[in-house]
Amino acid sequence: MEKRNRQVLLRRRPEGKPVAEDFEIVEAPVPEPAEGEALLRNLYLSLDPYMRGRMSAAKSYAKPVEIGAVMEGRTVGEVVRSRHPSLREGDFALGGYGWQLYSAVPGGGLLKLDPEEAPLSSALGILGMPGLTAYVGLTKIGKPEAGETVVVSAASGAVGAVVGQLAKRMGARVVGIAGGAAKCRYIKKDLGFDAAIDHRSEGLDAALDRTCPKGIDVYWENVGGAVQRAVFPRLNDFARIVMCGMVSEYSATERQPGPNLWDAVRKRLKIQGFIVTDDFDKIGEYREMAAPLLRSGALKYREDFVDGLERAPAAFIGLLEGKNFGKLIVRLAPGPTRAS
Ligand SMILES: NC(=O)c1ccc[n+]([C@@H]2O[C@H](COP(=O)([O-])OP(=O)(O)OC[C@H]3O[C@@H](n4cnc5c(N)ncnc54)[C@H](OP(=O)(O)O)[C@@H]3O)[C@@H](O)[C@H]2O)c1
Repeated sequence: MEKRNRQVLLRRRPEGKPVAEDFEIVEAPVPEPAEGEALLRNLYLSLDPYMRGRMSAAKSYAKPVEIGAVMEGRTVGEVVRSRHPSLREGDFALGGYGWQLYSAVPGGGLLKLDPEEAPLSSALGILGMPGLTAYVGLTKIGKPEAGETVVVSAASGAVGAVVGQLAKRMGARVVGIAGGAAKCRYIKKDLGFDAAIDHRSEGLDAALDRTCPKGIDVYWENVGGAVQRAVFPRLNDFARIVMCGMVSEYSATERQPGPNLWDAVRKRLKIQGFIVTDDFDKIGEYREMAAPLLRSGALKYREDFVDGLERAPAAFIGLLEGKNFGKLIVRLAPGPTRAS
């Protein structure tokens, strides 16, 4: 066990795109767990687009990270000291907190993980929050029917890859929008999407016309911006739009123009936003469905590992520019998981 904790703090609020100077890496004492807490030596840290929102003081659905505080983030770790009756040294758990090597957290909030069931890192991606997001948004809002056309943006990412695969399992025709040839190849060849559009090189309007000849019945919104503006005119009557995120606009200093909502009346569209934390009680149900599919290879996933806490700021900045390919995870310490 290292003698010191290392942490990434929010040094200042970014203006526009975050830069390295917005973060600060410091050393701190390893925290002592209080009664009811466990001390986790963090193995994996999840980096997610929502963290851009926490860096900002703008009003949102969650409180911002304070200046000088540890950056918010979920970790998977190994229990190295426990003052909670149901956790023992050597247990692995999801629910550690922050961009840091150690976190002392209430034991009741931890989800114990079995490394034999699935690679531990998958609890941050396909079997964790992003996977659950796909499941909740599709089952509660998108509800694709067999033969319908589903379009998903950021399709090779942590959420989008699961959306596409689950929608296929529901019998839909799935078109993914992703940045670059490699990501497009991956969603078609490896994940079984019916078509892929490269938003970085193709004209979106022509590409959507070509891949969605019968229009779009479900649009899964992950990015906003130009992609959203191209998709909206191609929505069918009674289409459902699952408003999951708009990552292309998280660092924008001015609101981007949106679609004309007269379409929502004319076409009787359903446009619904959601935040996955409202449905976290479904994590058990989701994992029960998804874990066997993962083990059998029916559900595929890709993780993009970065090694070392000090690389977290640059990796996070890259995530907002599409540099990640799959679920972005910082490996903080070696753990009992598959090599990738
Ligand atoms: N509502 C909820 O509860 C909830 C929960 C989890 C995630 N989300 C949202 O879901 C979305 C996807 O999250 P994720 O964790 O799966 O991330 P991700 O897709 O693994 O990574 C983000 C991806 O967004 C795309 N992107 C970035 N900038 C873009 C731009 N300017 N234009 C178009 N695409 C851009 C990039 O993919 P390409 O290279 O393919 O463009 C990038 O790889 C985000 O909007 C996130 O905020 C919402």
